[in-house]
Amino acid sequence: MFKIVNREEMAQGTIILNEIEAPRIARKAKPGQFVIIQSHEKGERIPLTMADVDPDKGTITIIYMVVGKSTASFSKMAVGAEYFAVIGPLGKATHIEKRGKVVCVGGGTGIAVLHPITRALKEVGNHVTTILGSRNKDLLILEDKMKKASDVLHICTDDGSKGHHGFVTDVLKDVLAKDDISLVVAIGPVPMMKFVSSITKEKGVETLVSLNPIMVDGTGMCGGCRVSVGGETKFACVDGPEFDGHKVDYDELSKRLRAYQEDEKKSLEQFEK
Ligand code: FES
Repeated sequence: MFKIVNREEMAQGTIILNEIEAPRIARKAKPGQFVIIQSHEKGERIPLTMADVDPDKGTITIIYMVVGKSTASFSKMAVGAEYFAVIGPLGKATHIEKRGKVVCVGGGTGIAVLHPITRALKEVGNHVTTILGSRNKDLLILEDKMKKASDVLHICTDDGSKGHHGFVTDVLKDVLAKDDISLVVAIGPVPMMKFVSSITKEKGVETLVSLNPIMVDGTGMCGGCRVSVGGETKFACVDGPEFDGHKVDYDELSKRLRAYQEDEKKSLEQFEK
């Protein structure tokens, strides 16, 4: 069993942080890898990329948005409660190397996924510019941690309540125009990754995105997580979750993510009754 040792509510309670005892995973996990979590034996298997690990303490940190029945049931678990299963680390780790000037772009809970990658890119000597976006200032997460992990931090909000009034792509265009950037890492909602990738493709700047399709087994057996990348079918759980942002078929990914939306809505409504 995997005990919750710390729990925080972020973004007005819509995003939850859980630090969980999982010593074997904490020892092995690398930036970019994920775990699959179940709250009970018959519970849905939810893939979540680790936002942090503490090998000495033997804990991993996950950050999730409450969007459906399973995450709503996770959100009711207090400190001391135990997850039935935490499986991982799964997926390929981010390839971290010194590239020079890099830009990390994050939106929503994608910021949690981006955090260990940003920190690792800075630790190996890259100059890291980070651009974070959210709908408003109250929904922005991990600002202090991202500031620490970056050389330059830009904040963007859709309503202008903090930082640049507008989208991450506006600031990205400016940064790309002024600086010689060798790598962009973009993690967040699918439309954000799509638009970032189309801007960097025009400029010829290598771009990594982290995909979060529906997953079941997480080991390459079920095909649930298939995505099209460069015209080839890839399994995000074993071939990813990171891919060349210029080659991902984002429209297909969006369509597959919407496939169970109605069922998920009904299931959440029943859970909340
Ligand atoms: Fe089953 Fe990836 S989740 S193949």
